[in-house]
Amino acid sequence: MTCQGVQAQILGVGSYVPEKVLSNKDLEQMVDTNDEWITSRTGIKERRIAAENQASSDLGAEAGKIAVKNAGISPEDIDLIIVATSTPDMYFPSTACLIQDKLGCTNAAAFDLAAGCTGFIYAMVAAEQFIKSGTARYALVIGAEVLSRIVNWEDRSTCVLFGDGAGAVVLGAGPEGEGIIASHLAAEGSGSQLLTLPCSGSRISSNEEAAANKAYISMQGREVFKFAVRVMEEGTKKVLEKAGLSKEDVNLVIPHQANIRIIEHYAKKMKIPKEKIVANVDKYGNTSAASIPLALDEALQQGRIKPGYDILMIGFGAGLTWGAAVVRWA
Ligand code: ACO
Repeated sequence: MTCQGVQAQILGVGSYVPEKVLSNKDLEQMVDTNDEWITSRTGIKERRIAAENQASSDLGAEAGKIAVKNAGISPEDIDLIIVATSTPDMYFPSTACLIQDKLGCTNAAAFDLAAGCTGFIYAMVAAEQFIKSGTARYALVIGAEVLSRIVNWEDRSTCVLFGDGAGAVVLGAGPEGEGIIASHLAAEGSGSQLLTLPCSGSRISSNEEAAANKAYISMQGREVFKFAVRVMEEGTKKVLEKAGLSKEDVNLVIPHQANIRIIEHYAKKMKIPKEKIVANVDKYGNTSAASIPLALDEALQQGRIKPGYDILMIGFGAGLTWGAAVVRWA
């Protein structure tokens, strides 16, 4: 059953980043790297690092609290919480349940969703279905990551790339033609080995093996780069076709913030002017599932989003997964 004429709208946005800033200069003291290499290859200048007592649920709860407030509703109004994360506080309970408790969303169902850096798009599209069907009136969708805990700080090829943060949106019902007007989700499990967190799950055969290994992000950077530029182009074409829009119609693009070179390559290939693209990877690095809502919130606060704007969000990540959504801002 779907409620005729109902579309899921973004009613409130929030974000949170930890206070501690780790600059490229700081990294020079930790591994054999330098600001010039990191800046020219990635565009990243600094990233945020969670405090010792902060986990993903703490960051996610802060972002969620702001999104709920900005939506003008109470925590009790939320019917559903979906948290996209690759760094849950623990396997169980879900980070969504922990956030439900922290925020007092006592009427909400809650679950986590794993789709790597595409997690936020997947979660938003999943929540959209609950709204459109009338199963949920308000849904809180959060991307929250503490990637600093799964980065090998001795591996210069990965540790310079990632950061911690959280972003959130509240979805609710709105009239047809506003809100999420099209989406496209995709996966390519055959490429799963390109980006993994080995030794982190039931693939470990014994407690001894678990104790001997530490789970760190493992990535084949060049292959991921090629994958990213391929699927960003493909995802954009597919979602615009579904929305019945041309790329010229799009007012703002919010891509996953992994690497400025990927974003620039995409903009050039798609002939999308730079002014239409939101990029804040320089300040936060790659915050995985948090990156798109973090960038959305920043764009909103900077006044770059206006009613009636068609906003294209596009992500890619571990899985491999990718996904896109077009949101007509109400
Ligand atoms: N500082 C200095 N030198 C470094 C560093 C560093 N931090 N890291 C690697 N190098 C060296 C390498 O050792 C290598 O040296 P060598 O030629 O003597 O062997 C040289 O730099 C080139 O290394 P590459 O890995 O080939 O560098 P590349 O140009 O491919 O850049 C990068 C690496 C930035 C990771 C790139 O491949 C990339 O952007 N990939 C996309 C991956 C990405 O963005 N992933 C994010 C996760 S995807 C997601 O969001 C889910």
